[in-house]
Amino acid sequence: METFRLKNGQLLEIRKADPEDAAQLLAYLPLIGAESDNLLFGKEGIALTLEGEQKLLREIGEEPNSIFLLGFVNGVLIATCNVRASQRERKRHQGTFAIAVRKPFWHLGIGSLLGKKALDWAKATNIIATIQLTVRTDNVHAIRLYERLGFRPIGILHRDLRIRGEYHDTLMMEWLVE
Ligand SMILES: CC(C)(COP(=O)(O)OP(=O)(O)OC[C@H]1O[C@@H](n2cnc3c(N)ncnc32)[C@H](O)[C@@H]1OP(=O)(O)O)[C@@H](O)C(=O)NCCC(=O)NCCS
Repeated sequence: METFRLKNGQLLEIRKADPEDAAQLLAYLPLIGAESDNLLFGKEGIALTLEGEQKLLREIGEEPNSIFLLGFVNGVLIATCNVRASQRERKRHQGTFAIAVRKPFWHLGIGSLLGKKALDWAKATNIIATIQLTVRTDNVHAIRLYERLGFRPIGILHRDLRIRGEYHDTLMMEWLVE
């Protein structure tokens, strides 16, 4: 567990997820889903049972090329950042990146902190060589954050997301281990 003092004076605690975090993660996902239209799900969260989420977290915990970081303020889960990579020999060097922070905690530097921790970890694996993500082209704050973390734009995926009947383009970005 690592602790950081936020701009607003509150303490942020960051640690890796384990299977016991499954229930609070399942409660958190619909909340972040409802707070923006920038994720792959909305207020419905993700269709995973408690057992399914526990299994997922166990697998990620055991994979040398995947990480799931959690951020807490006053013991409440308020942020997540994960890098997931395949176990196939030909793809195990390529991670996929996801990040979210609960809306009341935006602009406090939490996304930057979590993102940097995940990328520092990725460098140290000596397995991960590239990390990819997609972000809505109108999610300018996330794109700015990713650029500051070292991600570079690759190209546009047209109609990549469909939300309430409307298509949205996404920007694909990559981060290469130097
Ligand atoms: C994108 C997201 C993760 C950023 O998290 P965050 O904790 O607010 O990020 P930070 O506080 O580290 O901000 C990083 C920088 O991004 C910019 N930024 C982020 N959100 C911003 C906003 N709403 N308005 C203005 N600038 C913003 C700022 O330049 C900020 O720099 P600063 O440190 O000088 O303020 C968060 O807004 C979020 O979870 N959004 C909804 C889910 C989402 O979009 N996830 C990404 C999907 S690809």
